[in-house]
Amino acid sequence: MLNLKSKLFFFQNVLNGLLNNTSNIYDKLSKCARPVEVQESGSNDILNNIGFLQLSSRQTDIIAAVNEMLKKLGSKVTGTDRETRPDFFFEVKSPVRLFTGRNKELIELHERLEQRTRHFPDSQIIALSGLGGIGKTELVRMYAATYRKNYNSIIWINSERDDTICDSFDRLAKDVLGIPTIDANGGKKHVSSIVDAVYKYLENNSGKCLIVFDDAKDAESLYKYLPLGLHIPCGSHPVVLITSPNKDWPTWTDVIILNEWKMNDAMEFLKRALPSDTTGIDQLTQLVETLQRHPLALQQAVSYILRRKVRNHSYTIASYLQAYATIKKQLLSSEICSDVLNDYKKTAFLTWKDTFNAIAVDEYGAVSIKIMHCIAYFLAEKIPIKIFLKITNGSEDILYEAIHLLAKFSLVVEEYKIGHLRISKLVQDVIQIQLKDDFGDVAALSTCLELLVPEITPDMVEHARCIWKHSEKYPTLVEKYSCVANQIIECLLEQRMYQTGVKYAVTALPTLENILGKEHRDVLEMEKKVARIRVLGIKGGHCGIANQHGGM
Ligand SMILES: Nc1ncnc2c1ncn2[C@@H]1O[C@H](COP(=O)(O)OP(=O)(O)OP(=O)(O)O)[C@@H](O)[C@H]1O
Ligand SMILES: [Mg+2]
Repeated sequence: MLNLKSKLFFFQNVLNGLLNNTSNIYDKLSKCARPVEVQESGSNDILNNIGFLQLSSRQTDIIAAVNEMLKKLGSKVTGTDRETRPDFFFEVKSPVRLFTGRNKELIELHERLEQRTRHFPDSQIIALSGLGGIGKTELVRMYAATYRKNYNSIIWINSERDDTICDSFDRLAKDVLGIPTIDANGGKKHVSSIVDAVYKYLENNSGKCLIVFDDAKDAESLYKYLPLGLHIPCGSHPVVLITSPNKDWPTWTDVIILNEWKMNDAMEFLKRALPSDTTGIDQLTQLVETLQRHPLALQQAVSYILRRKVRNHSYTIASYLQAYATIKKQLLSSEICSDVLNDYKKTAFLTWKDTFNAIAVDEYGAVSIKIMHCIAYFLAEKIPIKIFLKITNGSEDILYEAIHLLAKFSLVVEEYKIGHLRISKLVQDVIQIQLKDDFGDVAALSTCLELLVPEITPDMVEHARCIWKHSEKYPTLVEKYSCVANQIIECLLEQRMYQTGVKYAVTALPTLENILGKEHRDVLEMEKKVARIRVLGIKGGHCGIANQHGGM
C-alpha cells in the first residue's frame, strides 16, 4: 500500500501528465497497476486500485474529478468511443484457472501492440512464436482478459487448419455480425466474400478491434484471411495477433518469442497446483528442471500426480520423479486431466511429434531430421554447428537451411555468433523415446559416432562422452566404434583433464572389456592410456595441476 506522501506525489504526476500528454498518462497508469488489476476494475477506476480511496474526502473529490476526466479521455487515447459502438467478443476463452507468471510478457505484448498502433497503423501484426505447449495460446487468452477494455471487439479465429479458419469466419459473420453467409440461390458464399464482408463491417464500425489467429501454420496459410489491404482510418486498423509454433514470418510481422517459464513461476505453479504435496524444495526444483520449466509438461505432471493421488494418498512429486526415470514415455504421453477451463487436447509428446512431421515435409527436412536425431544424444548446450558438416557433405548452405528449419520451430536455439546450438533436455527425451519406438536409435547413434571419427576436437569432447554413454548400451556400436572410446580419452589427456579421464575410464573400460574381451586392441590401448593419465595426474598434482583446465 502506498503511503500518503507517495500517493500525493503520484497524483501530482498524474495531473501533470494530464496537462501534458494524455496518451502518456494512459501508459503510465497501465504500468502502475498489475495487468489483472486493470482487467478487474478497468482503466477508468485505476486510481481506486492503488489505494486512493483511503485518502481524505477532499482528496477523493479531486480523484473523482480525475477519474471522470480519465473516463472522457480514455476513449480518445485508445481511439475508441464505447458509447456509440456495441462491443463484442467472439470465441475468446478465459485463461486456465491456474494461470501463472508471464507478467512481463503481458506488458511487453501490450506495449508492442500499442507501438504498432501508434507508429505503423497499417501493419499491426504480431506473431507470438515458441515451442509447442510453451503457453502461447494461454498468454493471449490472458492478454485478452486483461486488456479487453482497450478493445471494442476481440475476435478469436481458430487457425489450426484452413477449414477451422473458414468455420470461424463463417460463424462470426452469421452469428455475431449478422452477415448472411448464404447467397441468393441458397448456396454457401465463398469464404473470400465472407472475409471481405467481415472486414467491411469492421471498417464501418471502426472501434478498436483485436483479431487473434490462434495456432497458425505459416504466413502462406493465413495471407488471404489477414486485413492487409484495408483502407481504414488511421488508428482504427484491426490489431492482429498470431500464435504459431513457426517463427518465420514476413517483414510485415513483428515476431515475439515466448520462452519457457522462469524458475520462480514454474515453482509457483507447482505449489499452487499441488498445495498439499509434502515433497521438499529439492525435489520440487528437480521436477521443474527435469521438465525444463515447460508449462504443458508440468501441467501433465500435475494432472498425473493428482490422478494417482486419488487411489494412493501418499503419491507425491517424489514418486513421479522416480517413475519418470523409467516410464518417461507414458508420463509425457499421459493426457491432461479434463478440466473445463483447460481444453488443451495434445500431450507434449504428441505436440512435438506434429512438429517433427511438419519439418519432415520441408525441402531440407530430411537433413534437419537427421541432425535433430543426432542432437538428441549430445549434451543440451554448446553444440558446435560445424560438427554436422559431415551430414551435409561439407555444404554450409544446406547446413544453415537445415538448422534454420529446426530453429524455426523452436526445437533448437541458434547461437550463430559463437557457432553453437542448444536444445531443451525435454525435447531430447521425446526425440530419444520416439527413436527407440521406431527402432531408429542405433542408426542415429551410429551417425553421431561417425561425426566423431577420426578425431575428437576439444569442443566436442564432453558431447563425445555423452554420445558414448548412450552407445555403450549397444554391443554392435561398441564393437564398430571402439576407437572412439580411445579418442575420447586421448582428447582428455591432451586437455590435461586427468580427473575427468579417470572418471570416464571407470565405466568405459569395463564395458569395452565385457564386449570386446580383455585382449582386444582397443581395450589394451585404453588400459595404457589410463595408466598414463594416472601417472600424469599424480605428477601434475605435485606441480599444481589443480589450477589447470579440468584439474583434479
Ligand atoms: N501461464 C500458464 N499458467 C498455467 N498453465 C499454463 C500456462 N501456460 C500454459 N499452461 C499450460 O500448458 C498448456 C498448453 O499451453 P498453450 O495451449 O498455451 O500452449 P501453446 O504454446 O499454445 O501450444 P501449441 O503450439 O501446441 O498451440 C495449457 O493448456 C495449460 O495447461
Ligand atoms: Mg496454442
